[in-house]
Amino acid sequence: MEKVNIGNNPFLLPMPMVIVGSCMGERPNFMAVGWASRVNAKPAIMSVAIGLHATAGSILETGEYSINIPSVDLLRQTDLMGMVSGTDFDKSVLFDIFYGSLEKAPMIRQCPVTMECKLIQVVELPKDSLFIGEVKGVWSEERFLTGGSPDIEKVRPFCLTMPDNRYWSIGPAIGRAWHDGLELKGLLTAR
Ligand SMILES: Cc1cc2nc3c(=O)[nH]c(=O)nc-3n(C[C@H](O)[C@H](O)[C@H](O)COP(=O)(O)O)c2cc1C
Repeated sequence: MEKVNIGNNPFLLPMPMVIVGSCMGERPNFMAVGWASRVNAKPAIMSVAIGLHATAGSILETGEYSINIPSVDLLRQTDLMGMVSGTDFDKSVLFDIFYGSLEKAPMIRQCPVTMECKLIQVVELPKDSLFIGEVKGVWSEERFLTGGSPDIEKVRPFCLTMPDNRYWSIGPAIGRAWHDGLELKGLLTAR
């Protein structure tokens, strides 16, 4: 089939949705973020790409923030966190908030998995900034875990696609990582 060049948008499909929590002065604030990723295993380090939003200023000021994974039940709340600014509204009233070891990393009790992060590096990009933070604590509840780790079927996270701007739930498991590819290993040429 002939390939067509469709431009240079960063098409990553899908992107897991998270809510980033920070402190605007004394007030907890939350924003929707689709550009989040784990970037280092040990120590646990995560990154979030954030534009010129109130949250960016808060993280720079305090050096702390949280990454909260909402379930599909929190879709509307998550969406609203991405449409209004903490500069104009107190968005924290929609959630029960708790803290772990970091004083300026407010976490959302309704989210099945939440992580408190300490900022370790900021990479300035042409439009957005990449906030890189070490995960200092991960909080969940027994009902969302299997064998001590978050279970995707119990957490029920959701994803985002752009530019169609739609949310997607997660489908059934289709394979085993670090395992299923071995079936094809015989096709490789040894070097
Ligand atoms: C689905 C969705 C995903 C978003 N993802 C990001 C993102 O990854 N980075 C970003 O800077 N803004 C993102 N936004 C926009 C911010 O969440 C939005 O501007 C928010 O109001 C900022 O809040 P604040 O001003 O209280 O910091 C997203 C918005 C939506 C609706």
